[in-house]
Amino acid sequence: MAQILDRVLNGAAIAAEIRQEVAAEVAALAARGVRPGLAAVLVGHVPASEIYVRSKVKTCEELGIFSELITPPETVTTDEMLALVADLNRREEIDGILIQLPLPPHVDTKRLLDAVLPEKDVDGFHPVNAGRLQAGRPALAPCTPSGVIEILKRSGIAMAGTRAVIVGRSDIVGKPAAMLLLNENATVTICHSKTRDLASITREADILVAAIGRPGFLTAPMVKPGATVIDVGINRITDRADFDRFFAGDAKREETFARRGSVIVGDVDPHAFDLAAAYTPVPGGVGPLTIAMLMANTVKAAKLRRGL
Ligand code: GUN
Repeated sequence: MAQILDRVLNGAAIAAEIRQEVAAEVAALAARGVRPGLAAVLVGHVPASEIYVRSKVKTCEELGIFSELITPPETVTTDEMLALVADLNRREEIDGILIQLPLPPHVDTKRLLDAVLPEKDVDGFHPVNAGRLQAGRPALAPCTPSGVIEILKRSGIAMAGTRAVIVGRSDIVGKPAAMLLLNENATVTICHSKTRDLASITREADILVAAIGRPGFLTAPMVKPGATVIDVGINRITDRADFDRFFAGDAKREETFARRGSVIVGDVDPHAFDLAAAYTPVPGGVGPLTIAMLMANTVKAAKLRRGL
């Protein structure tokens, strides 16, 4: 039993540990008269974004970080958003600026993200931070891939010298995950939707990171027995046939599906986890790390900006 439990990498517990460390840092900064501050910008009414952002603000409160929630209407223009960001860039008590994505289609997202001061870019989305990361300089790195690294490190899974394969090339997860793993001395391959003979590559992975945004995309034949599988995907499925494909015989999920009409599945078919030496479950794996790393980045930004 213990062995089986050990195979499941407990993201929730690791996130709790990081939050504790951040709270201790916040307390140490308070003794020096510094209080880290995060501004969260939530545009319009996207239900998933509302849940995420409220959770981010609540976690700030729990850790002693100052937070401010700004909620422009759905009709906000790019120019109005640029003015808002310029104001946050100027304000001394704001160390981190988080613009929750996605934004309404009429807002120029890239222009806006580029307007955030790189020193306050706690999401690590600014090209200057992407460049710093790839140049091996101190940077604010995107939260979710940073969380992946923390899970591996804190679970005692060695990265140096291993073959790491990332499926997915997004600017937010896949690309920065590749850079972070490379900085840990893994040999890194990035695959994506157009990769030929994907399975032959994923089967070579000692560390397999799934971040392609498709429910149960990585199946058992694509996983090397004994690999560590990190599932970044969060996909809601409502279709009975999908449910049966992934979760037939799982009484707990059956109950959830009956009650809610949907369940969450990652980018990895749960049957593929059977082959893994260790894996992150969905939910409760990588997900909890995203907010914990945002908190860590906010404190890091507060310290860097003050030369501490
Ligand atoms: N939308 C989904 N994930 C994220 C994230 O990590 N940061 C921001 N700003 N928006 C998101």
